[in-house]
Amino acid sequence: MTKDEKWFDKKMDRREFLKKAGIGGAGLALGASGASAFFAHKVTGETAKSDGQEDISFYGEHQAGIVTPTQKNVYFVVLDLHSTDKAEVIQMFKDWTDYSEKLVTGKLVKEDGDNGYLPPFDTGETVGLNPHRLTLTFGISPAFLTKLGLESKKPKEFRDLPVFPRDQLKEAYTGGDIVIQACADDAQVAFHAVRNLVRKGRSLVTMKWSQAGFAAIGNRKETPRNLFGFKDGTANATKKEQFQDIIWCEDSNWMRGGTYMAVRRIQMFLETWDRTSLNEQENTFGRYKESGAPFGKKDEFDEVDLDLKDDKGEPLVPVDSHVRLAKETGVEIYRRAYSYSDGIDEVTGQFDSGLLFISFQKDPQQFITIQHNLGNVDKLNEYITHVGSGLFACFAGVKKGEYIGQALFE
Ligand code: HEM
Repeated sequence: MTKDEKWFDKKMDRREFLKKAGIGGAGLALGASGASAFFAHKVTGETAKSDGQEDISFYGEHQAGIVTPTQKNVYFVVLDLHSTDKAEVIQMFKDWTDYSEKLVTGKLVKEDGDNGYLPPFDTGETVGLNPHRLTLTFGISPAFLTKLGLESKKPKEFRDLPVFPRDQLKEAYTGGDIVIQACADDAQVAFHAVRNLVRKGRSLVTMKWSQAGFAAIGNRKETPRNLFGFKDGTANATKKEQFQDIIWCEDSNWMRGGTYMAVRRIQMFLETWDRTSLNEQENTFGRYKESGAPFGKKDEFDEVDLDLKDDKGEPLVPVDSHVRLAKETGVEIYRRAYSYSDGIDEVTGQFDSGLLFISFQKDPQQFITIQHNLGNVDKLNEYITHVGSGLFACFAGVKKGEYIGQALFE
């Protein structure tokens, strides 16, 4: 290509590029396998899915990235808003809607013109990649509404989270006005999406905190294990009717069809955990490490029975175990957590790693009730510290022709 030509053919989106290069989807498998029909058949099934061949629409009744099956990577960012001008913010949300639609289908965020003296519109690091099941989920904090003079629209349940026992929150991982959760089966695709959205909004927003994370989703048939080696997410609801009960807001206001996101950056002390006996590890959760089954049961998805007793008549699921304390509240949330590993803790010289805990619920009180019950009692507390926190109202899904959060501004 000459200098006058685009650095990347603007007429060709990434999907077309892959097709033309003969390396997309089944084409890739055929080439690699010596054109075996059996192999071609396989990649149209599970394999194709876990390779991220399918797009997840940006449009729908609810935002994607909430009950969407977990992708391998998250890039999570919280932004500060530096404007009190509603019209400017609406325009930014319109621009983000336009960008998001393109990002999740693997297109450039905007095609370049002919002027080689300008920086390219799209930063370019995903050219040649498919969207890898990219989802973009947007939310706002109570402070966002205050900044824009929209306090009268604040639902009564939408308040900052209270301080919980043992919280050791750091300024660096709290606060902020807007959240963007980008999940994809490729870390660079997730990062690229956030980078380009922030770049587009840069006259109105700055970055407050961010966290990259990963989930071991393997063949997607098994529940991912967290960094303590336990299956995490087993008790989550799986049915649409349950989602309606647990996740989606039903009030007749701008949050209808949306949900509240609670996020906690939880440091996990891996070195201490790794010195802990297997029995003690299992007692911490009240589940067996290998199978993920609850105490007294065989299979991962067997019902947790809090009434079971051991030979001495003691509760089989320990009274201070994480699962008992969470379950006995009778309240449910929908968890969608990612592990993180951020190098070495400067003070202790140990891994700075843990869980970016994210849960979705129709009322923040669901999360608050469970966290209060875990409180000082949870045996897991010996191995973790909550250092970051946030509560965000995630809008309902976007209809074609509308923009993110439109109902709030109407
Ligand atoms: C680093 C921190 C945490 C770790 C490593 C962790 C790990 C686990 C594990 C291994 C399970 C059992 C398997 C499952 O059902 O997913 C579980 C269950 C659960 N956790 Fe956590 N968790 C953490 C923090 C939290 C927090 C902050 C909350 C909410 C406030 C929470 C709420 C729950 C709930 C509701 C269950 C399901 C209980 C049931 O009904 O059986 N977890 N967690």
